[in-house]
Amino acid sequence: MGTEAVGRAIKPALVKARALCKRYVQRAPFSRKKFVIDALMDVDLEIALGCLTALVGESGSGKSTLASCLGILEKPDRGEIWFEGSKVSFANSRELTALRPKIQMVFQDSAGALNPRFSAAQIIEEPLEIQGRESGARLRARACELMEEVGLSPDAGNRSPLEFSGGQRQRLAIARALALKPTFLILDESLSGLDLATQAQILNLLLDLQTSHSLTYLLISHDLSLVGQVADFVAVMHHGKIVECGSRQQVFSAPQHAHTKELLASVGVVEAAFRTAQVGGGQ
Ligand SMILES: Nc1ncnc2c1ncn2[C@@H]1O[C@H](COP(=O)(O)OP(=O)(O)O)[C@@H](O)[C@H]1O
Ligand SMILES: [Mg+2]
Repeated sequence: MGTEAVGRAIKPALVKARALCKRYVQRAPFSRKKFVIDALMDVDLEIALGCLTALVGESGSGKSTLASCLGILEKPDRGEIWFEGSKVSFANSRELTALRPKIQMVFQDSAGALNPRFSAAQIIEEPLEIQGRESGARLRARACELMEEVGLSPDAGNRSPLEFSGGQRQRLAIARALALKPTFLILDESLSGLDLATQAQILNLLLDLQTSHSLTYLLISHDLSLVGQVADFVAVMHHGKIVECGSRQQVFSAPQHAHTKELLASVGVVEAAFRTAQVGGGQ
């Protein structure tokens, strides 16, 4: 891929967001006063097929809200989402049900997201059962296959996720997310809270799975040095808006927006990323 490329120009977009707006009304603590938060303001984003797009920005900038809308868990107040060339109709529940398996999310705190009353294998089996895709012995066999694929021993299938380490729980969450054969995976701070060695292992797993399962990723992270290693494209959010978007090399080596420059300077990665981009030829 040419180093000057942006998602729009070279690869077809799997997901497109057009002018997304989302407003929350919050109550001030110990008061009846309400105030509004514009979590998303006219957000446009294209996520290139088969690529890893990173979404970065400070806490509260709207990243998880955008993830929930793109993951069709939340309905934007205004704007459009397009998936595989079709406009998502939030009013059509049948269409949403058909779409949901294709879009999966993995969050930071899998301990909270994984039901501790279920065994590891049951956690993977649940979505398959709900969708009626597998049953009986085939269901358990599929769970074992998925566990192996994410580097977990199927022997651990009967154990509670609470007995797993943080990295193993993220592997389990990834296996569950893969069960329904999605095309788009949203990783909302999925690597945060893990030690550096585990982070690297999970990241390598995700990159292998991206190839073997033809996945498109949206990786949300506040860790710019991590993003600088793996992203094809980078979008920067600030106060509910995408303030900059481009190839990793463009954003890291020639940031345009003051906020992007601030973010990069704060972790001191500009020079390092620029060197990496030069050595590795960008993407
Ligand atoms: N369900 C909600 N109800 C009220 N306010 C919310 C809700 N979700 C997010 N917000 C607010 O929207 C803003 C953006 O939040 P979020 O999307 O979680 O940002 P980020 O993921 O970048 O930290 C924040 O000010 C947050 O407090
Ligand atoms: Mg968040």
